[in-house]
Amino acid sequence: MARHRRLSDLPEFLQSSPFLPVGNISDSFTTTQASQPKPTLAQIIRSKRFRTIITLAIFVLTLLILPSKLQAYHPLTRLGLSGPKCYFSPPITIPEIPEEVDWTEFAYSQYATTTDYLCNSLMIFETLHRLGSKADRILLYPSTLLTSTENSIVGYLLDKAQAEFNVKLISIKEQRKSNVIKIWASSYTKLLAFNQTQYSRIIHLDSDSTLLSSLDELFFLPPAPIVVPKAYWLPTPKLSSHIMLLTPSPKTFAKIQEEIEKATKGIYDMEIINSLFGSTCSILPHQAYALLTGEFRSPDPEHKAFLDPSTMKWDPDRVMKEATFVHFSDYPFPKPWQETSAEEQEWAVPECVVDDQEGNVDCRARNIWIALYKDFKARRKVYSPVLSVVC
Ligand SMILES: *[C@@H]1O[C@H](CO)[C@@H](O)[C@H](O)[C@H]1NC(C)=O
Repeated sequence: MARHRRLSDLPEFLQSSPFLPVGNISDSFTTTQASQPKPTLAQIIRSKRFRTIITLAIFVLTLLILPSKLQAYHPLTRLGLSGPKCYFSPPITIPEIPEEVDWTEFAYSQYATTTDYLCNSLMIFETLHRLGSKADRILLYPSTLLTSTENSIVGYLLDKAQAEFNVKLISIKEQRKSNVIKIWASSYTKLLAFNQTQYSRIIHLDSDSTLLSSLDELFFLPPAPIVVPKAYWLPTPKLSSHIMLLTPSPKTFAKIQEEIEKATKGIYDMEIINSLFGSTCSILPHQAYALLTGEFRSPDPEHKAFLDPSTMKWDPDRVMKEATFVHFSDYPFPKPWQETSAEEQEWAVPECVVDDQEGNVDCRARNIWIALYKDFKARRKVYSPVLSVVC
């Protein structure tokens, strides 16, 4: 454990690499030397120890010459010494939905700790309803939301969720911490899905997203404590928690509560998922299930983080066609329900790509991005006869 801590804290893998043998070998070399007559240069060169040292030196030099290549390989994470080892397992194959299914075992979970997020959650439920998803739908909400100043709006939305989209309302105690950054302080609440042990499997979806098709097939993946996508856009191996197929269990939930208790600045739901499930997770293919809107703005023409350019060419239309779930993530550009200035829009909107050979202008990525934001804004509007604008 101590070793694990020390290694994972290192900023640079090579600086005190566990492979550097310097201390021990040169020490024993000097001791042997003292008890024996001085060897000739030829003897030294032929000695086994000398050859070992040369081999090790070459090895270490190789590491020094290739640090970026090696770092991109993330050897410590692959060895399970730091970060989520399961990141490197191949994405799971998506199964067919069996003929006979007891759908009451499965649920989609949303959590809402503010009116804004309640509006977003309603959109996810509306989509599941419209697309004919068969699993249950649950909404975790803190009872304090109903006593807030917007209580009539909250009440209206909760009723609508129940009446129109068949949502089961589950009142919970918000998991909030005061010693962490405010905008993420309630992100722990989504982990309460692990406590919904009346279900054998739950799909959590972050509601600042657009769902494009039912994900019912995911409930039939082989058993795993959690199935999550890679946070493919980050330079270091990390699991993402914006979509999770999870297995509720009292034991897992106890561990999660312990982690929430311990959490300080920098430790949010995503970090907890990484530390608890880093060696046991299965990987959800991110192209189909975890696309970010920011991918359409990527400055990399090959989109190497998102796909393997040796087997696939970036094609925004195909990417969009294959996507089932798109997460709005263009930080620092605001989320789609927030007001934006012309300057902000100008800054964020993807540029058209000019094809060097033919001179054609390709605006597909730009148009897809704009359409995603426009569609979200339009769908989010909720009116009530009494309250007029609700969302
Ligand atoms: C977990 O679920 C149990 C049973 O429904 C409930 O009594 C308990 O309060 C829940 N824990 C939290 C932290 O929500």
